Amino acid sequence: MSRPPYSEIVANLPSVTPFVGPETIERQQGKPFRVRIGANESAFGVSPRAAAAMSEAARGVAWYCDPEGYELRAELAAMHGVDIGNVTLGAGIDDLLGLIVRMYMDPGDAVAASLGCYPTFVYHVDGFGGRLETVPYRNDRNDLTALTDLAERTKACILYLANPDNPTGSYYGSNAISDLLDRLDRLERVSPGCLFILDEAYLDFVPPDTVLPIDVDDPRLVRVRTFSKAHGMAGARVGYAIAHKDIIRTFDKVRLHFGVSLVAQAGALASLRDPEFVASVVKAVDAGREDYRELAEDTGISSLPSQTNFVAFDFGTGERAGTVMNTLIERGVFLRKPAAPGLDRLVRVTVGTPGDRAVFSEMFREVMNEVS
Ligand SMILES: Cc1ncc(COP(=O)(O)O)c(C=O)c1O
Repeated sequence: MSRPPYSEIVANLPSVTPFVGPETIERQQGKPFRVRIGANESAFGVSPRAAAAMSEAARGVAWYCDPEGYELRAELAAMHGVDIGNVTLGAGIDDLLGLIVRMYMDPGDAVAASLGCYPTFVYHVDGFGGRLETVPYRNDRNDLTALTDLAERTKACILYLANPDNPTGSYYGSNAISDLLDRLDRLERVSPGCLFILDEAYLDFVPPDTVLPIDVDDPRLVRVRTFSKAHGMAGARVGYAIAHKDIIRTFDKVRLHFGVSLVAQAGALASLRDPEFVASVVKAVDAGREDYRELAEDTGISSLPSQTNFVAFDFGTGERAGTVMNTLIERGVFLRKPAAPGLDRLVRVTVGTPGDRAVFSEMFREVMNEVS
């Protein structure tokens, strides 16, 4: 009996596990983690109103959800001062990134991004047969000029930027982003046009007056946002895209229409209606980042400035960063680090609760004494 051949794209993909979850490591180590601060989830939980709305919605799961996600989209649109036709939902930004890549990229097309950028974007580019072109980070920030030059040189169909960035935590305000858009305009004269994906997963953690205003008449740009971070709903899987109406209508050709569950829609809606909760998370994360900065300073390690819910600790070399991280993982702290050259000296530490931070601080000091 012969096995039918896989598609050429899939047959040529390396065998990968997209993300090794903490659950996998717990199974391997035969013990649970004491602190889970490796995946930039929110340690501060979910809004009590969202939790109640999700419990209530759970009783209704015999029925399919609203495939248009109408109520949630309407509320998001009102919040951003746009029309409901400018918003679509997805099962997190991860889902939306796959859809956008599918909408704009043909197999073999070039796509521009930073070397070591958010891996799920790369995963989708590979998975749909694209060609990832990269430029390195510069001074631990995305190099915006090099990125647009790269897009021009390679005739990229998509330029991807996470702002604030994962894994560095760095952030560019509105002037830098509108300059980037101006450079993309010039680029349009040499290539048929390059879509700019602005991944704003961590936007809740930046001062609102620094954010590029939303302009849904601009067809060059898709902005993606999530309930996974400040809203504390990573496990529910809800994100959304804001874009020109034509683009949002095109999402309908490829999106999974029941992909954002009834429970997730209800939770996100209730969380949106609880801005005080989100503000309290942002404040708690601020305090946690300051704790980490002090811990790094105390232990003679530098840390990168961050506008996210994590801080990147800089160990100078990939080897040292790997040793520290792996030792902490063995002792019960779930952490992750980037693998890309230039960034592999970093270990990313998510802001945990004060209790998480106390445990982490104790273990970190212990391990730093042993390794240095
Ligand atoms: C830059 C960036 N984009 C997207 C995501 C994933 O977001 P979601 O949970 O909405 O899929 C993350 C999660 O860590 C991220 O760091």
